[in-house]
Amino acid sequence: MHRRIIAPGALAAASLLLAIPASAASGTPGAPGIGDPYYPAYGNGGYDVSHYDLRLRYQPATDELEGTATLLARTTQDLSRFDLDFLLDVAEVRVNGVPASFATSGQHELEITPRTPLPANTPVTVVVRYSGVPSTKSAYGFSTWHRTPDGAVAADEPESAWWWFPSNDHPLDKATYDVSVAVPDGTQALSNGTLQSTSSKLGWTRYNWRENKPQATYLTTLAVGRFDITTGTSEGGVPVVNAYSRDLGDNDGAARASVERTGELVDWLSGWFGPYPFGSAGGYVPNTTTGYALETQTRVYYSPRQFANGSNTSVVVHELAHQWYGDDVSLKGWKDIWINEGFARYAQWLWSEHEGEGTTQELADYVYASHPADDPFWTVPPGDPGPDDQFDTAVYDRGALAVQALRNTVGDDAFFAVLKGWPRKYAYGNASVADFRAYAEEVSGRSLGALFDTWLFQPVKPAAPAARGASVAKASQTPARPRSWQRIEATNDVHTG
Ligand code: TRP
Ligand code: ZN
Repeated sequence: MHRRIIAPGALAAASLLLAIPASAASGTPGAPGIGDPYYPAYGNGGYDVSHYDLRLRYQPATDELEGTATLLARTTQDLSRFDLDFLLDVAEVRVNGVPASFATSGQHELEITPRTPLPANTPVTVVVRYSGVPSTKSAYGFSTWHRTPDGAVAADEPESAWWWFPSNDHPLDKATYDVSVAVPDGTQALSNGTLQSTSSKLGWTRYNWRENKPQATYLTTLAVGRFDITTGTSEGGVPVVNAYSRDLGDNDGAARASVERTGELVDWLSGWFGPYPFGSAGGYVPNTTTGYALETQTRVYYSPRQFANGSNTSVVVHELAHQWYGDDVSLKGWKDIWINEGFARYAQWLWSEHEGEGTTQELADYVYASHPADDPFWTVPPGDPGPDDQFDTAVYDRGALAVQALRNTVGDDAFFAVLKGWPRKYAYGNASVADFRAYAEEVSGRSLGALFDTWLFQPVKPAAPAARGASVAKASQTPARPRSWQRIEATNDVHTG
């Protein structure tokens, strides 16, 4: 559907333009996608956002969301027009203070035409005033907005922003955030980073959250509900804010017994990955019914179902590992998903070894042996799995196996130097699988092309296991299943919703 609204004054501005040279006035439309081959329409071209200021109000009873989004951006080309990704109903758009015309197009594009074209490499401020009932909106036939009995949650990947704020929705365009949300008194609103302040007025309480480190759009989260909020500081000095729905029923104890260990686990992971990259840590467990968890920056989303079989520190380790691998260093394109999931899964293996529930080598041997050569498991290359298999188990399990193969090839000293050096090297930025290979080669001083090709890119089972010793290579029977196995596998069970 294509609706176009002509802003008042557009005609006057057009005639003004005739007075200036055509070259200065010429603009080209920004691309409707940022250029990700897996998701050609995701993100947009022509500008780069540095900050989002979201001022929202949400009514859980009716699912009505209204808001004003202020985006600080910079053009990367001259622009006659540019897109944001968004699904709610827009009332007004201003570009540099001047009303702009806008229209919807495609599945989730908001096309904005400023009154005068924007020159390249200049700052631009975009204000979008909007409202809507997110649960009534869908794109490509799906919705990732999750209503709960007492509120709602935005936490999904690769797409979740469309349902609550207009954005350049791709990890390549990271920005800082102020998220301010007013909710009825007695209800809480959570987002990323640090709670700056709260205020109450006429039955509404406003929560002001701030994340001052660059953050990908899909890692920006919103949770509204009746929560019990706990605060503390890890031994290593990281402030921790956790939240639990007051309605977790049987899962309440196990959820708290796991997520309350966030500070301890952040400190433990710092030993492997280097200093924690953000100013706050924590997680929240709303009363949702989906199965998965998500590494939303500083404030991890956990489904209560992750705790349905008792405490689960493994999933906490996985999501916290993403704070370095995924959130601090984000992928350049969704094909780079191995850097997120392979390493978050490997962190679970390290935790398993720490807990005496199976060493990383035992887990690698088990993955290798438990999938025969004709298992379709081996047809998914974790280094470029394709959009349909982006979150296939192979990306996690073969992905972690590839990490162990790297470790066994370069040795522990180089391997752990890479593990810790990577988040520093690309801090708060983006990197690809090719960048990772180059960095591992640089640190280890070895050529790793064949290794990466074998473990990450060939759609077949590698000929020899990633074993150090001869014992495993000789073993003809499947190695025993490590005790941590079931818990680890449940982490990426995204289909149990
Ligand atoms: N990345 C999530 C994790 O680390 C799992 C996940 C995969 C996911 N696909 C998803 C989460 C889709 C939400 C939506 O556990
Ligand atoms: Zn993950």
